Amino acid sequence: MLPIQPPLIPTYFTNRSSQLSSQTKKISGSFFLSWEDALWHLLKIHKIKKNAVVLVPEFFCGDVTDNMNSHGLQHIHYNVDKYLQPNESDFINKLQKNNPAVVVIFHSIGITNPLLKNSKEWLEFLPKKTILIEDCVHKVVDPQAIKFATKNHYVIDSLRKVVPVQGSWVYSVHPIPKIPMKTNLLTAWYRLQVFFWWVLMELFLNIAYYTKSKVIQKYGNICAEFAMKKGYDVIGDQQLPACGIPGMAWMSNRLNIVKIYDLKRKQAQLYKNILQKTKKSKYFFYIPISEPDFSQLRGFPLGLELQYAEFFLRFVRENGLLLRFELNDSPWSKKQKIVYLPMGLHVRSDDIQWVCEVLNKFQSTFSTNLDK
Ligand SMILES: Cc1ncc(COP(=O)(O)O)c(C=O)c1O
Repeated sequence: MLPIQPPLIPTYFTNRSSQLSSQTKKISGSFFLSWEDALWHLLKIHKIKKNAVVLVPEFFCGDVTDNMNSHGLQHIHYNVDKYLQPNESDFINKLQKNNPAVVVIFHSIGITNPLLKNSKEWLEFLPKKTILIEDCVHKVVDPQAIKFATKNHYVIDSLRKVVPVQGSWVYSVHPIPKIPMKTNLLTAWYRLQVFFWWVLMELFLNIAYYTKSKVIQKYGNICAEFAMKKGYDVIGDQQLPACGIPGMAWMSNRLNIVKIYDLKRKQAQLYKNILQKTKKSKYFFYIPISEPDFSQLRGFPLGLELQYAEFFLRFVRENGLLLRFELNDSPWSKKQKIVYLPMGLHVRSDDIQWVCEVLNKFQSTFSTNLDK
C-alpha cells in the first residue's frame, strides 16, 4: 500500500537552516496553524467587511469556500479549463464586475499559474486594497524565489500537504501583526485537536512505512488516511485565527528543500517517461507541466474521464495504491476527476514503476469490459 501523504522520516530534514538561493531578499514570514487560519488573520488586519467578495478558481477546495462563507465572505468562481489553465478573460471580467476584497490564484498541484507568469494583463484591474493570495498549498516554497506583485500580495503554503510538518507560512513584503495572546488562548483547544490528528496520521504513516508486513502496511495507511481526513474536517472551522504549533516553524526551517526538489524533479521525469507510452488513453488525460515545475509537484497529476473515474479509483485502491479524487468538492470535479500519483522522499523508483504497472493493468483489464 502506497500513500501520497509523506511520513515523518529523517531524510526530509537537514541539520542546517535551509536556504535554496544564495541571495537574502528581505521577506517577512509569519507562521499559522493552517492556510485558512492565515486568511482569517489577514481578513482581520485588513478590516475586510461582511459579504465582501472573494474570487477563487473553479479548481479549489469546496470545504474551504464553505469556511470562507462562514467567515462572512461571498465566493465567486472564475473558470478553469480541463487542463487546469485559468481563463484569463473570465478572470479579468470577474475582477472588473465584482470589486473583490480577496483574490486567490492557485498553483494547482504545484504547477506555476499562468496568471502569475503574466500579471501585467490583469494587475491594472485589481483594486488597490484587494488582498492577493498566491495559494502555494501544493508547493514547498523557496521564500527567496517569491516575486511580489503588489503590497497586499501574500504567499501562503500548507506544509502538511507536501512535507511531514504541520502549519502554514505567510510571506509578504511587510511584517504582519502578531495574533493577540488572548486569541491564542481561545484557540488552544482547536490547535490541540489539529495537532492530535496530525500526530495520529504521522504515527500510522510511520508504522506503515517501516513495517515489512503487507497487512500492517495496508491498515496503517488506511488509518493514516482516516486521521488525515479528521484533521481536514477540523481545520478552518474556528472563527478566530490560530497561530502555528510550537516547534513546527523550527522543523520547517530544517527541511532539506534541495533534496526534495531534486528528487521530485527525477520522479516527475520518470512518471512522464513511463506514462508517455500510454499517452492516448481513453480513460486518462495528462495535465501539461513544464520541466521547471517538475520539482514543485505535490504528486504527478492524472486526469480521469468522468465515466471511468469510479471504476478506476476502486481498481487502484483494491490493488494497494491509495489514491483519492482530489478537490472532489470543487466545480471543476463535476466534469472530470483528478488523482495525484505519489511523489516525495518516501517514494522509491521501484514504487513509481509499480504505480505505472497498476495503471497499465487497469487499462488492459477494463479495455473491453468498460465499453460494453
Ligand atoms: C487549494 C487549497 N487552498 C487552500 C486550502 C486550505 O489549506 P488548509 O487546510 O491548510 O487551511 C486547501 C485545503 O485543502 C486547498 O485545497
